[in-house]
Amino acid sequence: MAGTATQGAELYRKTGTAPLAGPLVASPIVIGGRTLPTRFFLAPLAGYTHLAFRLVLRGIGGLGLATTDLVLASMLWSERRKSLDLVETCPDDRPLSVQIFSGETGHLVKAAIWLQEHGYESIDINMGCPMAKVNSSGGGARLMCNVEGAVSMVSRVIDAVKLPVTVKMRLGWDASMITAPELAVALEDIGVAAVTVHGRTRSQGFHGTVDREGIRQTVAAVRSMPIIANGDVRTTDDAFSMMRETGCAAVAIGRGAMLDPWIFRRIQGRANGETDVYEPTADEQIAFLSDHFSLMARQYDDFACLMFRKFAAWYGSRLGIPEDLEDRLRRFESFAEFDEIVRQIRLRHGERMCSVPTALVKTPNGPVEHW
Ligand SMILES: Cc1cc2nc3c(=O)[nH]c(=O)nc-3n(C[C@H](O)[C@H](O)[C@H](O)COP(=O)(O)O)c2cc1C
Repeated sequence: MAGTATQGAELYRKTGTAPLAGPLVASPIVIGGRTLPTRFFLAPLAGYTHLAFRLVLRGIGGLGLATTDLVLASMLWSERRKSLDLVETCPDDRPLSVQIFSGETGHLVKAAIWLQEHGYESIDINMGCPMAKVNSSGGGARLMCNVEGAVSMVSRVIDAVKLPVTVKMRLGWDASMITAPELAVALEDIGVAAVTVHGRTRSQGFHGTVDREGIRQTVAAVRSMPIIANGDVRTTDDAFSMMRETGCAAVAIGRGAMLDPWIFRRIQGRANGETDVYEPTADEQIAFLSDHFSLMARQYDDFACLMFRKFAAWYGSRLGIPEDLEDRLRRFESFAEFDEIVRQIRLRHGERMCSVPTALVKTPNGPVEHW
């Protein structure tokens, strides 16, 4: 193994500062027998982390692992169109993990076998989803309330397939039920390859600050299973301080990658000792926008126009898109209209200051109905 969570904690305890080119931070990591080129991963964002987004991010560089949107296990093995779209992939879309969820062990097992038979390389089980309809059927974050039940479920999946199985969880259900350390230890014992911890409880939804101490305690509890820390990482500094403060083996970034698609490139550059912060040119920013849309259109045809609109708010100021054109991107209806908007962005790119927005755009409403 190229490095473990415990080694990570050790390194940061010794140095005490954010390593700029620490050997561990810059080194690849092995999870479930796969060597991942970097320790900075894309966290799943339902509705966003489709093939097109994963591919444009990979094109920029620095991304160690991407995970699909969560897919309902029973919809996957029964091969529903929407679920097949979510797991659509291609050779350039590696390394990839597919995230499945269910409250039914049998459904998870069938989905895992389906993934293995269809050539996927890794399975992630969701134990963090806060949505009421997922939790009421026993899936998502609800699994964290019953450690024994959750472990037996995952163990059945591990027994059914040869693929590495990972789990993504929160700290627990609420402040009175922090089960992440206990659950992570039990999952390590049954052979889970890695655990991602979003440093909030289910009842926090997406509010409040991420509890890095809670993640650190999970890292400290396990023997050597990599813990991937997650939550509110928006900048290179955030990524390094997350590693330093928690001792995690890797960091997963969700919304930060939407706000700044170059984040992985920057982090990896700094991990490798680059002193200049990587800043994309205007051409690169515009190419990113066009490429993302073209890839989406390749998969979804005309429907891509509708699907792409929600990216406009995230991309606007980062890609230097003038506000009126950002507004048009939220409403465009055809390929020709998209091309015209891009033509105008090219002419007027310098007008709006390019910035990485610090405010969160379009966060889900809370723990109950939406992500
Ligand atoms: C719109 C949206 C969709 C999400 N979808 C998923 C999902 O499908 N599976 C999952 O495990 N977590 C999902 N999450 C949670 C994120 O993966 C991540 O844990 C959370 O956003 C905190 O990390 P971040 O601050 O880097 O975004 C979602 C979050 C958001 C905002």
